[in-house]
Amino acid sequence: MAITDYIDDRPAEGVFRVNSAIFTDQAVFDAEIRAIFEGGWVFLGLSSQAEKPHDYFTTQIGRFAVMVQRNGQGELGAFINACPHKGARLAQLRQGNAPLHVCPYHSWSFDSSGRNKAIKSKHAGCYSAAFDQDDHGLARLPGFADYRGFLFGSLSADVPPLAEHLGEAAKLLDLVADQSEDGLELVPGQVTFTFAANWKMQLENCSDAYHFTSTHPSYIRVLERRQQAFSQDVVASVWENSDYWKDDATGIGGGSFSFANGHALNWGIFGVTPASPLFDRAGSLAQRHGEAKRDWMFNMRNLTIFPNMQIAENASSQLRIIRPLAANVTEIRTWCLAPKGESAAARRQRIKQYEDFFNPTGMATPDDTISYENCQMGHGGGPSRWLQGYARGMTASVAGGNRFGDLISLQPEQSVLANPQLCDETLYHSYYRAWANRMAKELEA
Ligand code: FES
Ligand SMILES: [Fe+2]
Repeated sequence: MAITDYIDDRPAEGVFRVNSAIFTDQAVFDAEIRAIFEGGWVFLGLSSQAEKPHDYFTTQIGRFAVMVQRNGQGELGAFINACPHKGARLAQLRQGNAPLHVCPYHSWSFDSSGRNKAIKSKHAGCYSAAFDQDDHGLARLPGFADYRGFLFGSLSADVPPLAEHLGEAAKLLDLVADQSEDGLELVPGQVTFTFAANWKMQLENCSDAYHFTSTHPSYIRVLERRQQAFSQDVVASVWENSDYWKDDATGIGGGSFSFANGHALNWGIFGVTPASPLFDRAGSLAQRHGEAKRDWMFNMRNLTIFPNMQIAENASSQLRIIRPLAANVTEIRTWCLAPKGESAAARRQRIKQYEDFFNPTGMATPDDTISYENCQMGHGGGPSRWLQGYARGMTASVAGGNRFGDLISLQPEQSVLANPQLCDETLYHSYYRAWANRMAKELEA
């Protein structure tokens, strides 16, 4: 199969189509695991998940168990979470504190720098000299890097520096990281759920403004009531004080930015209102970062860092890690992401709004996941076909940024400014262009 059998990308002719086989085909799935999840940078977690000496957390890259651990000197390391003896998973918990890991199978032990500390009954083991020359420590990930507390790892050494992979999208991580001088933390209470559909359904849906009014009517009614309650109390923002949107005849309400390497953002102007848990720090954030950047922090923003990380800042703030389990099964791990040191009232509001919207117990996530499963059933029932869900916004998408992005010096590859009905679908193109780049070699092989 050629990559053009899966992605039909002909910009000059105004055509971008995706073949439904990419959601169902086992050979495609296997190639994705190798080329995308095990072949490049993926998000692992936050450095604050292993804050103190000897703290660790466990996660997964593709088929491999991974452990991120801080050693006694405070340095973070990332290791394959498998004992070199016979391969048993070493750390068993999602997170913990362990100056020493003792393998549950034959008791080899490892310190928090991944060094082997002891091999049980070594003296009586009659080992060869060759064995003694082996390194018995944990295997380090070939790539591991920290961008402002966001930790990324790679099973391949053949990757660009993380800064190059993130590119301009790093500025959107800054909008999250800069919400507190003390950094970010995860509110206790991680949720893991699975749905019976392909992982790229989640990738797309985070950027899918088009579904919101159709899929989430019950949640929208709650939002309307909340907006009324908050409407008296807004702070003047850049959006109100300038010609940024009010004077725009087209009624710009937001838009999208697409970046190299598959990262994408869709956003909407929310205004600096008490509907955001950041509201009690609206003044200090403006002082520290300027009004424009502060206003961007208040905007609705759904960010994807390809391939497995999403930060949804709309109702509240959710961090997601996407993990493909099979062509038609995906695991999502979610957390409520919060600036450290926010007031108790702000934290309460953040959690309340988080619970309303997100997760299998919220008002929105179940609407979304059932739609993913409906798509999967639709794709799975017959021969593959070209899908038409990548065409909205085609004539609105321009190369480079716009005056809104300029406020935070953002230089995307493509951008769309939109009224609330446009609901751009061209930002998926950046996912699939990155996907095609990485997959072409693998599929041809
Ligand atoms: S597998 Fe770990 S000690 Fe044997
Ligand atoms: Fe949704």
